[in-house]
Amino acid sequence: MNTPSTPLPGGTWTLGGSIVTRFGYGAMQLAGPWVMGPPADHDGALAVLREAVGLGITHIDTSDAYGPRITNELIREALHPYPEPLFIATKVGATRDAQGGWPTARRPEDLRKQVHENLGSLGVEALDLVNMRMGDAQGPQPGSITEAFETLVDLQREGLIRHLGVSNVTAEQVEEARGIAPIVCVQNMYNLAHRHDDDLVDHLAADGIAYVPFFPLGGFTPLQSEALSQVASRLEATPMSVALAWLMQRSPNILLIPGTSSTAHLRQNIAGAGLSLSDEDVAELDNIGH
Ligand SMILES: NC(=O)c1ccc[n+]([C@@H]2O[C@H](COP(=O)([O-])OP(=O)(O)OC[C@H]3O[C@@H](n4cnc5c(N)ncnc54)[C@H](OP(=O)(O)O)[C@@H]3O)[C@@H](O)[C@H]2O)c1
Repeated sequence: MNTPSTPLPGGTWTLGGSIVTRFGYGAMQLAGPWVMGPPADHDGALAVLREAVGLGITHIDTSDAYGPRITNELIREALHPYPEPLFIATKVGATRDAQGGWPTARRPEDLRKQVHENLGSLGVEALDLVNMRMGDAQGPQPGSITEAFETLVDLQREGLIRHLGVSNVTAEQVEEARGIAPIVCVQNMYNLAHRHDDDLVDHLAADGIAYVPFFPLGGFTPLQSEALSQVASRLEATPMSVALAWLMQRSPNILLIPGTSSTAHLRQNIAGAGLSLSDEDVAELDNIGH
């Protein structure tokens, strides 16, 4: 692995006592189409993971539901034994069906099983971080998080989980979880065009809790907007670079986990996230999501 020659943009954040790079990597897209089955290019997927760590990234986001198992197994094959600073975040709350759907699985016995599956496929004795994923494909849904979250708290007490987070949640569910045990992050959908969590981002920042936006580039539907293209062309950058730079500048508690299956895109995204946006750029971009 290479020694990183330049620091990653955004510096670091302390996630539950571990220092992680604010520029991280989301591993979901390493599995096959629609996050099912193996990737078309197995060695290419391993190369992306090794390149990410070689470039200094110390935060990888995954789930045993990706593939299922495929993404975790790729991470293990590429990186185990894990270098000491590497922090691997995973999530539980859904499984996969034969059609590629994501049926919810949040009963205590389901969650215990998923935690053990993550331990096995990642090849670790304790998981750095487990996010309790709520809601569904449409986003967060109202309802109590208590029973599910308490199960993870029990698993944390048993030494199988180091830190807890919540994902795909409403602001009320965040508060409900925090009333039970400390969380180190919230992982929700958020990007230039989807600003529903603006107040939550600021609220968490004030309390020193990370906000980890998923679909930072739009996920399966890449971000597209005339205003974004205009700012990008003015800066002689790509819209994706500007979208990442905007997130990086939005708040210091935002940790980026853009996904890619390409080492070239990984490098472009690192460079892009380091773009400096002027107040004028930010004002134009802020109009997209308002
Ligand atoms: N908690 C949850 O419910 C939840 C839900 C979804 C995702 N996540 C997490 O969030 C992470 C990020 O989400 P995501 O990967 O789905 O979406 P994303 O980061 O918004 O976008 C990834 C897509 O953008 C493309 N891309 C990336 N860099 C590019 C570049 N420089 N130029 C052109 N295309 C580029 C990728 O294609 P290429 O492979 O061709 O680069 C991929 O199709 C996931 O990996 C996962 O860990 C969590």
